[in-house]
Amino acid sequence: MCLPAKLAIERMKEVEISVKFFEYENLTELTPEYQVLVEKAKEIALKAYAPYSKFNVGAAVLLANGTIVTGNNQENVAYPSGLCAERVAIFQANALYPDQPVKAIAISSMYKGLYNESPVYPCGSCRQVLLETQNRYNTPIDVIMHGTKAIQRVSNIKSLLPLSFDFNLISED
Ligand code: THU
Repeated sequence: MCLPAKLAIERMKEVEISVKFFEYENLTELTPEYQVLVEKAKEIALKAYAPYSKFNVGAAVLLANGTIVTGNNQENVAYPSGLCAERVAIFQANALYPDQPVKAIAISSMYKGLYNESPVYPCGSCRQVLLETQNRYNTPIDVIMHGTKAIQRVSNIKSLLPLSFDFNLISED
């Protein structure tokens, strides 16, 4: 027997997910370690290869041993062949230091040569790669998103990718 549409809607359960993030007005409000990390992200954004979008992104990855690995976006005339700054940086860090957990990543962006006022948020694919890294090392990753008017931080990449795909659901053996 089919329920009338109105009844069916009333019987479902609504679940809400909330995201907690920290906001800073000024770089000096961050810890000295994270101030350096953001400066590195800003610096490497200047060297991005972004002739098509003119949107430069820089990312700086902080490893457990204190090493900082940086990366920026690399575009291509065949657009999908390019790669975001976050993945350039994180893959480089994982390639060079496979035994080092990633503690944090700072991201900064510029449009046509000027740093953007609003924080830049990693795209969906970068969030997925950051989550893999977080799970791989079983260490929460702080994500620091820089803008000149505000800096935002989440203390776990899961906050940016809730309801993510979980391999445990299909690997029973
Ligand atoms: N981009 C990044 O590098 N990181 C992001 O999180 C979002 C977008 C790059 C990709 C492309 O080169 C340019 O920004 C415009 O989308």
